[in-house]
Amino acid sequence: MIELRKISGDNIDEVIALEVGEHQKDLIETTNLRSFADAHTMNAEGIPATPYAVYADEVAVGFLMYIYDTLDHESFENEVFYGKKSYFIWHFMIGKSYQGRGYGKLAFEKMLMDIETMPYGEAEYVSLFYRINNVKARSLYASFGFVDTGIIQDNSMLAIKKLDVKRQNP
Ligand SMILES: CC(C)(COP(=O)(O)OP(=O)(O)OC[C@H]1O[C@@H](n2cnc3c(N)ncnc32)[C@H](O)[C@@H]1OP(=O)(O)O)[C@@H](O)C(=O)NCCC(=O)NCCS
Repeated sequence: MIELRKISGDNIDEVIALEVGEHQKDLIETTNLRSFADAHTMNAEGIPATPYAVYADEVAVGFLMYIYDTLDHESFENEVFYGKKSYFIWHFMIGKSYQGRGYGKLAFEKMLMDIETMPYGEAEYVSLFYRINNVKARSLYASFGFVDTGIIQDNSMLAIKKLDVKRQNP
């Protein structure tokens, strides 16, 4: 069974120890430790950030994090989603020895379900960047309805999915 759990003093060491394969390091721009630090910084600055440990049957196997923000980068200026609220997936990884077992897909699905409750407020979109050579990530995101925008920054494609659910907790 796959679960998303809050990061605490009990599991932070296990999460930090999780790594992707050597050849995958350029697919993610950051480490779990740095992302966790980013979450704290952003929360302190008023940008809600949610880091989660991914558990498979009581074992920490991955890490993911999303934030709630506005799509207002200047390179989006002419896009329909410019200036709109979005849940943005900041970091997503499954430890190298746990990949290819379906954990990533299940964890991603759980994260989307969490996002669809609109925990920080309403948003029209969920968005992310992936490296253009990351075939596995692209196919995973496409299977959940993410569409490439054609916007590429630092060899990464912005992909987006429209959310059509209403906030559950007004
Ligand atoms: C990407 C990642 C999170 C996926 O997690 P995972 O547990 O390995 O993936 P899963 O076993 O759940 O497979 C999920 C989907 O990935 C895709 N996939 C898996 N292996 C693939 C391959 N060799 N080629 C193309 N697509 C592949 C498929 O869509 C698959 O779904 P399916 O089995 O229903 O076809 C994980 O491999 C990882 O951490 N990679 C390195 C870091 C990274 O790339 N993070 C994403 C940054 S944008």
